[in-house]
Amino acid sequence: PKESEDNLRSPICCIMGHVDTGKTKLLDCIRGTNVQGGEAGGITQQIGATYFPAENIRERTKELKADVKLKVPGLLVIDTPGHESFTNLRSRGSGLCDIAVLVVDIMHGLEPQTIESLNLLKMRNTKFIVALNKVDRLYGWKTCHNAPIEKAMKQQSRDVKKQFETQLVQIITQFKEQGLNTELNNMDKEMRETYRIVPTSAISGEGIPDLLLVLTKLTEKTMVENLTYRNEVQCTVLEVKVIEGLGTTIDVVLVNGVLHEGDQIVGPIVTSIRALLTPHPMNELRVKGTYQNHRAIKGAQGIKITASGLEHAIAGAALYVVGPHDDLEEVKETAMGD
Ligand code: GTP
Ligand code: MG
Ligand code: NA
Repeated sequence: PKESEDNLRSPICCIMGHVDTGKTKLLDCIRGTNVQGGEAGGITQQIGATYFPAENIRERTKELKADVKLKVPGLLVIDTPGHESFTNLRSRGSGLCDIAVLVVDIMHGLEPQTIESLNLLKMRNTKFIVALNKVDRLYGWKTCHNAPIEKAMKQQSRDVKKQFETQLVQIITQFKEQGLNTELNNMDKEMRETYRIVPTSAISGEGIPDLLLVLTKLTEKTMVENLTYRNEVQCTVLEVKVIEGLGTTIDVVLVNGVLHEGDQIVGPIVTSIRALLTPHPMNELRVKGTYQNHRAIKGAQGIKITASGLEHAIAGAALYVVGPHDDLEEVKETAMGD
């Protein structure tokens, strides 16, 4: 229905996969940042969130001439760690998302945390796209910066194409062994029964336009109902952390509803929002930088909240807002029951 199409929130997309497959680097490539370079040991150890406005996605996909008329305001992307010790963070991330990107290293195929991620996605029936990353590692790959993958493939030698085909066939077989039908993405095809594989390079950007286009097209097409904005606050604490100059803060994902400065929140501690901060669009929430200050923010968005008493907040917990007609004790009970 027309009415709900005009009132869609941004889809939440979770990036998952085995350690070092290039999840953070893919986001760096889209953002024009170097978050991965600042990570200790090059390992992601927290959940991150980045907001991509629709205009940036449109710009990045324009070479595909798909005439993208995005109905959603943007895309909220959640980065997760791939290291085996962070199963809880992958679970938290995948529990929040509308769609996921499962990143697979084309040279390695499916690895233990690929399969673990796959099972988390299967469990929640979450749709996903496979990013077959590091295509530039194919021996003899000719760089075509930020080109759509079909265009980049046309530039490759017969030998590179053959290597690609061999890896692809092998990886499709590995997915089949996990009970999943996957297929190379074709923008013009419906592909209802199969999961799309989009080849990418996070270093030179090939396939990035395809990845962004598939993500936005797929979410809009299949999820109008899920993406219809709702007023009821739906919010989860991603991380609890001390930030120099701000004290203990919480990073949250607000899926639906509006948060205001001064709102009384329960999560499960009871406090009042002192400040609502976001990084600038296309910047990572988990990286300390300059923040934008908001009186109110509407979901979906990744937000840093400052307030007193947040050292007692719990990562992974739902955050509730005590409205003017709500009974604080009742809200507290609901929060404790989670
Ligand atoms: P974790 O978050 O720790 O699980 O890793 P990740 O999946 O985020 O991978 P990350 O972005 O940290 O990249 C791991 C390494 O692979 C880094 O050295 C990257 O530079 C490299 N890398 C990532 N993507 C590509 C790619 O497309 N091509 C090449 N050649 N190297 C890549
Ligand atoms: Mg990472
Ligand atoms: Na890494």
